[in-house]
Order: sequence, then structure tokens, then C-alpha cells
Amino acid sequence: MRYCFVFGTRPEVIKVAPVYKFFVEKGEEAFIVATAQHREMMDMMMNVFNIEAKHDLNIMTHDQTLDSVVASIMQKLPPILQREKPEVLFVQGDTTTAMACAICAFHSKVEVAHIEAGLRSHDLYDPFPEEMNRRVVDVVSTYLFAPTTKAKENLLKEGIEEQRIHVVGNSVVDALNMIRSRFELSRIRSQIVPFDTYVLLTLHRRENIGEKMVSILSGIAKFAEERNVPVVLPVHKNPNVRKIVFDTVGSNRHFFLIEPLDYISFLALLEGCWFVVTDSGGVQEEAPSFGKFVVVARKTTERPELIESGFGTLAGTDKDSVYSAMVLASEKRLDPSENPFGDGKTSERIWKIMRGVRT
Ligand code: UD1
Ligand code: UDP
Repeated sequence: MRYCFVFGTRPEVIKVAPVYKFFVEKGEEAFIVATAQHREMMDMMMNVFNIEAKHDLNIMTHDQTLDSVVASIMQKLPPILQREKPEVLFVQGDTTTAMACAICAFHSKVEVAHIEAGLRSHDLYDPFPEEMNRRVVDVVSTYLFAPTTKAKENLLKEGIEEQRIHVVGNSVVDALNMIRSRFELSRIRSQIVPFDTYVLLTLHRRENIGEKMVSILSGIAKFAEERNVPVVLPVHKNPNVRKIVFDTVGSNRHFFLIEPLDYISFLALLEGCWFVVTDSGGVQEEAPSFGKFVVVARKTTERPELIESGFGTLAGTDKDSVYSAMVLASEKRLDPSENPFGDGKTSERIWKIMRGVRT
């Protein structure tokens, strides 16, 4: 069996790398196609996991549009599929890379395997365009690897046949376990931030860019000023995010703005922070492993398990609601606990299922 793994952005590399590496360790014929939807952030993560792409589509352009990303992938991937003839193509999550590559595979009659299938916010425009992307990928997938039973239920409600769905956990826990077992995070942390107490923040969602991001930052600034606590923000490479962040809090002495971190450094900061404020998907899944409370600066979440397990709250995007959620977060005392998103054995389960299906 010949497997193709595709990714293009930072979170896809983090979640695909453990699965790809497991397949290679087991002697499977597997290769990577990188779209490079994110150039620097993707490369940074590939270095962390020490993986190389057989084909790099190199599609990223400055301030790219969703359509330009789709068009470039649809032009460049099909000839590679025709030449390489994989039997299964793995995509991960809900990016434009995942959606466009899944459609190309479908057109070429290559079976699609979806890592992180079945996540739903039930609002087509939030997150935008990810809720559409993940639905499209699930429609064209033969193998749907759902992280949780809730994700499986979402798929069943949409009429997807049960035999296509496999609950396997989320490979992000495999990824973070790989890093934790190899690095002493506390030593790394002291080289990045000069504080013992800080709030960790990440922001990048397209639907938040504009007034919503300004009001989120204003709520965070109010909390930081009142408590006199630093906020550490690795600023995403998206130029529209950077402009808002630097215009809004660039000169605020409570904000410690840094470049995007490699995965090891980011986990070191997550391990040591007071709590996290984020609109990221992956960070919501990682925080429980470190016992950190998450203020989700969004209107919806496709990861309700975070809230149900007591590790997070949905804050919305208003200044006051974000501020209040941070006050709530500041009162929480949590320990690292069983992660509702995975147990670190997702890659092994996926490999067993693929082998079982084929033998
Ligand atoms: C993308 C995904 C989003 C995911 C996020 C992870 C889509 C539609 N969105 O959003 O689901 O959560 O990645 O971070 O697929 N840029 C660089 N260097 C980089 C990365 C980005 O310069 O390494 C800049 C470029 O100008 C690029 C822009 O950021 O055009 C936007 O990147 P893009 O991938 O289109 O959108 P994201 O908002 O990063
Ligand atoms: N991350 C990282 N460096 C950073 C910020 C985030 O390595 O400076 C990691 C984080 O641990 C998580 C992933 O990137 O695994 C989340 O990526 P992002 O928020 O860009 O995308 P999303 O998960 O929302 O799709």
C-alpha cells in the first residue's frame, strides 16, 4: 500500500508528523507532499519533527486569498498524484490545504483518509472557512478518523456510514508526548521569557480579524493592567493579524510580543503559563495535558470536550466578556489530567486500522 501524507500549515505538520513517522517506522511506503500554504511556519515545524517532503508545492504568497490557495493546489497536486499513484491520501483537519487536496484526491480516485474528522461548530461561518472545509473533507473521505465520540456522533447525524468512522483520539497528544519525553521544557522556558507568571495568548482566526480582534485585545489589556501581569503573544505571520496586534497593543508595556515559536518552545511556554487565551484549535486540545485553563476567544468551538471537562470557557469576542472570562480563569486551580482529546496512541490506532482494512 502506498500512502501520501499532505500538509501545508503549522498545525497540520504537528498533527500529521506523528502518524507519518509511525507509518514509516512500521515499514510502510509513505511519502509527504507539502503545499507550503505556510512557508516559514511549516518549515519550522518540519525541522522540529525531522521530516522531509518528497514534493513541495511552494504555493504561499503574501496576504494570499482562499481562492488563490485552492487554485494553486488544484493546479500543482494532480500531476503528482498521477505520477506517484498513491492508493490513500491522508489530510488533517480543516485548512484550505486539507480541503483542496482531498478534492484533488477524490477527482483522481485516490482514497482519502481524514485525520481529525467530525469536528463541527454547527455555524458555517465560524470558524470561516474551516467549518466548510472540514465538512467537504468528510464527504469525500473513505476513512474518517474522529478524535472523540462526539465527533463520531456529528458524522452519524450527517448520514455518514458508521463503518467509515473510527474513533482514535487526536494525534496532537502523540505530538506533545513526543516532545515532552525528549526535552526539558522548564529549562527551555527560562531562555524565552523572563517572567515566572504570565498569561499566554495566541490569535489568528480570519473571522476575528478586524474589530473583533481589537476588542479581544482590549479585554486582555484591561485584565493585564489591572493585575499587572505580562501577556506573552507569539504573533502569527498573517500580515493582517500582525497589523492589528502591533497597532492595538504594540506599545502596551504589559504585552510581550514575540515571533512564532517552534513547537518545543511553545509547549515550554504553555507548561509554565498561568492560563491561556486563544482562538486556536490545537491549543485548546493541548492545554488539558498541562493542567491549563483556556479562555477561548471565539463565538463557537468545535471542541466542546474542553468546556465539558472543566478546562475552558467560551468567552466570545467582546472586550467585557473576554475580561470576565480571564477573571474566571485566574481563579482556577487545575492539575494536568486525562486529556479528553487523546491518549497519545492515535497514530498506532490509525496504522492498525489501515492495515486491518487492507489485510
Ligand atoms: C491557516 C488556516 C487556518 C489555521 C491556520 C494555522 C485556512 C483557510 N486557514 O490560516 O485554518 O488555523 O492556518 O495557523 O487554511 N504567512 C507567512 N508565513 C507563514 C505563514 C503565513 O508569511 O509561515 C502569511 C502570508 O502572508 C499568508 C498569510 O500569512 O498569505 C495567511 O496565511 P493563510 O494560510 O492563508 O491563513 P492563516 O490565517 O494562517
Ligand atoms: N504553536 C506553536 N508555536 C506558536 C504558536 C502555536 O508551535 O508560536 C502550536 C500550538 O502548540 C498548536 C498549534 O501551533 O499545536 C496551533 O496552531 P494554530 O493556532 O496556528 O492553528 P489552529 O490549531 O488554530 O488550526
